Amino acid sequence: MCGRHKVTDESTIAEPGERVLTEVKGVEIAVFNVDGEYYALANFCPHQSGPLCEGPTQGRVTVDDDLEWGYDDEERHVVCPWHGWIFDVTTGTNIDAEQYAVPTYDVEVDDGVVFIVT
Ligand code: FES
Repeated sequence: MCGRHKVTDESTIAEPGERVLTEVKGVEIAVFNVDGEYYALANFCPHQSGPLCEGPTQGRVTVDDDLEWGYDDEERHVVCPWHGWIFDVTTGTNIDAEQYAVPTYDVEVDDGVVFIVT
């Protein structure tokens, strides 16, 4: 599966929060625009194999070292539509248990075209 695989024209996912699903050699992968940066994740939830990348994105509640509550409104967390496990799109890791992670892929943009690099 090594190589560079065309996904879409950049204009398709130019706005933060947009995403596109594609398939590379039998593997479903989503490319997300998070605040102008692109991230690619396998569309596979490690809980029970749900279509993780088809769920909504959202911010998250945070608690700092002084136990002050806050809210990170950067919508970089995708919620699995089956049972609600939440993953950070930028790292592929589950926000509650980092041992649960989904494969991530490098993304390149070349002359207005988005590629996944495997
Ligand atoms: S399959 Fe994703 S949370 Fe259960």
